Amino acid sequence: MYIKIKHEVMKSYATVAGSKSINSRLAIGSNADLELYEDGWLIKKDKPGFDLVGNEFKCLLELQESGLVPEVDESSFDGWSFVIKEVAYGATLDEYCRVCPDNVLLEIMASVGKMLNQFWSLGFVHRDLHANNILIGYSQGQWRSYLIDFGHSYNTNWSEEDLELYCNNRGDILQELPIWEDDFTTLQDALDFINPDLIASLEKELTV
Ligand SMILES: Nc1ncnc2c1ncn2[C@@H]1O[C@H](COP(=O)(O)OP(=O)(O)O)[C@@H](O)[C@H]1O
Ligand SMILES: [Mg+2]
Repeated sequence: MYIKIKHEVMKSYATVAGSKSINSRLAIGSNADLELYEDGWLIKKDKPGFDLVGNEFKCLLELQESGLVPEVDESSFDGWSFVIKEVAYGATLDEYCRVCPDNVLLEIMASVGKMLNQFWSLGFVHRDLHANNILIGYSQGQWRSYLIDFGHSYNTNWSEEDLELYCNNRGDILQELPIWEDDFTTLQDALDFINPDLIASLEKELTV
């Protein structure tokens, strides 16, 4: 029985992860340009008219030790781009949710729930938490979730000065800063096509 389930999990992973090339995945987003760079590294660059990558890099630096985000080159930011040293093989949560059976998704949701719990416990609010900003890999018998795309994110523990700078750059949220429950609502809306029991299982992991 156990071996049968593991086989199903590995088959789901191989089917979803192998269904697209890395280059077509890099084209999923719309706010920035991502390109494969030397040695398999990625470079993420603001599109003309956008100014999100600086804030993203600040958040990524603060999250490097957490294991929740891909590794970046800490000296690579040049004002409009930075280098990501870790390409997370696998696919986005959205891709798995459209293909995998519920018993496999239940395992994936447990991994996502743990990861989000840790992220929110650190004080971060993502602000763009849809299912293409969560990457899922599978290795050594375990699902592994990563968060990406922190252009709109902030941390409730930032100093007054940092928060003011952040708010001034994003005039729309000067009145009230969003909280982690807003992230959860965004993710729920993005996953409104899946079995609600799967969302409930994700929610069960949360102790924020
Ligand atoms: N470190 C990474 N490893 C693997 N794929 C990635 C990585 N970073 C981004 N991607 C892929 O590129 C897509 C766009 O990246 P993202 O950072 O979300 O850019 P945007 O700000 O344009 O949405 C993601 O949905 C994902 O499929
Ligand atoms: Mg994105």
